[in-house]
Amino acid sequence: PQNNNIRNFSIIAHIDHGKSTLADRMIELTKTVSKNEMMNQLLDDMDLERERGITIKAHAIRMVYEKDGEEYILNMIDTPGHVDFTYEVSRSLAACEGAILVVDASQGIEAQTLSNLYLAIENDLTIIPVLNKVDLPGAQPDHVAQLVGDLLGYDPDKIPRISAKTGLNVEQVLDKIVDEIPAPKGDSGKPLKALIFDSVYDSYRGVINYIRIVEGTLKAGMKIRMMKTGGEYVVTEVGTFSMRRDPRPELTEGMVGYVLANVKTISDVKIGDTLTDAANPAEEPLPGYKDVLPMIYSGIYPIDPEDYKDLREALEKLRLNDSALCWEPETSEALGFGFRTGFLGLLHMEIVQERLDREFNVDIITTVPNVEYHVYMSDGSMVKIESPSKLPDASRYDYIEEPYVKAQIFTPKEYVGAMMTLCEEKRGTFETMEYIDETKVILKYDLPLAEIMFDFYDRLKSLSRGYAGLDYTPSEYKRNNLVKLDILLNGDPVDAFSVIIHRDKANTYANAICVKLKDLIPRQQFDVAIQGAIGGKIISRSTVKAVRKDVLAKCYGGDITRKRKLLEKQKEGKKRMKSIGSVEVPQKAFLAVLSLS
Ligand code: GTP
Repeated sequence: PQNNNIRNFSIIAHIDHGKSTLADRMIELTKTVSKNEMMNQLLDDMDLERERGITIKAHAIRMVYEKDGEEYILNMIDTPGHVDFTYEVSRSLAACEGAILVVDASQGIEAQTLSNLYLAIENDLTIIPVLNKVDLPGAQPDHVAQLVGDLLGYDPDKIPRISAKTGLNVEQVLDKIVDEIPAPKGDSGKPLKALIFDSVYDSYRGVINYIRIVEGTLKAGMKIRMMKTGGEYVVTEVGTFSMRRDPRPELTEGMVGYVLANVKTISDVKIGDTLTDAANPAEEPLPGYKDVLPMIYSGIYPIDPEDYKDLREALEKLRLNDSALCWEPETSEALGFGFRTGFLGLLHMEIVQERLDREFNVDIITTVPNVEYHVYMSDGSMVKIESPSKLPDASRYDYIEEPYVKAQIFTPKEYVGAMMTLCEEKRGTFETMEYIDETKVILKYDLPLAEIMFDFYDRLKSLSRGYAGLDYTPSEYKRNNLVKLDILLNGDPVDAFSVIIHRDKANTYANAICVKLKDLIPRQQFDVAIQGAIGGKIISRSTVKAVRKDVLAKCYGGDITRKRKLLEKQKEGKKRMKSIGSVEVPQKAFLAVLSLS
């Protein structure tokens, strides 16, 4: 059958081990793009990704490779590279039969080498290990080959030793893809089943879905149904993707490509959903679909209330290729109308903020992120709280539970002590310590999610000079002595500043935030008292003293241009301020707490 010559695969790796560079070399070698079309890091086509060096969104690229006189179609499916995006990685992997596991020969096995490997194993993929960066003076290919070989049960001598940078031995990888990864199995006689592993929004064509046909045939004119969401659409075009869309008459089982169907209702499309033929539907959807649950929440508000509608539209579009993003409208006394938004993690939150700013040009204020708390009420019921301001009065509930994660910290053994101190400071409970090799250790801790959300990762990196890595999975909810800390400005609580925090940490935190806000809130015409309070009891205080002169006082005498300039400057400054009651608060004050531990 025609799909004998198809190979569907992903490249998986720890961040910076060279996944994108290897992808670029393969695209060059297979002449998928001519040399002058080839920009560096072709797959990372969003600015943001390039800057961060993180592949956030999966794309699929079709390459043609000739081996022993036979032509093969290699479909390379790119996967996001960060722990925040596990579900999306797993859906991309589900579209493949094999995965190339890239390991940096100078760094060895790292946190995401293992977590991505486990996802690939869960999806029953054939794994081809590759050692990269053998050109580096610090590379230890033989040593790392032994470790990787032991891990996978793969002959260490057969692991390609490559340099994605120079191109050395990259053909070996292409040959192995053909030889070792099985061709897709599937039945064209069966009703259509296609896995949506990615989608993007195009303002002219609507939603573009990237799909893998598992069974059946898809062509223009067919009416398709999304099995989970129930959306039905007529297909206008199908095709494959080799840096640009190539329309084709049809896609058959085993093939990877895109489908256009004038889908404008973004909520009809979910990554991991199954497309079927509405006229002859499959009985069961493909396995593995999950509604992705956010781990942290934050309020997003337009700085200018007029931008509310634009913000809503921008969030809708972002949700399309970011199945994990979710929100609902909320109002804040301090900030007005906005959205309570759920994210997979802090990095995810930062990415969404930056994309709103850059791609959609909406100026926003975000509030301090928090986890979801379970509040056990006096009447025996349980309420889930996604925002500290929603916490009922302390007299109405018995206790609060917070989410924990199982964290794995990968570290050279000399930093074990520092890592343990950090975890203890963050209310962690030690579980185990294992050696990966003679120099590297995995520490396992049970940690409150709220504690690793803020500066944990940065601290871990700086304490280990960048060498330690972190990986975590959600575990259970646990009861702790948690309280709501309010911040008052001139006596009024500012809901957007409230946090839920462990009682033992509340005083330190309240002091720190009072000091911080004192620096950030500019002087006004009157004194501004900043207070931290738990249930009406003030536990810390600072004051921003009133200014004496106004801006114009300096230049009486009447140089009008100078005056105008000053006024404009002041207006500019105002743009990034939000008036809360009578107090002007700059945008960055709302995020100040992120830098407090
Ligand atoms: P993420 O997209 O962040 O997951 O990283 P990645 O795994 O795609 O790594 P990327 O390809 O961006 O490479 C990371 C860095 O390593 C870049 O600076 C590359 O130039 C460099 N690099 C990649 N392959 C090699 C290699 O074979 N040798 C050397 N010396 N450097 C390499």
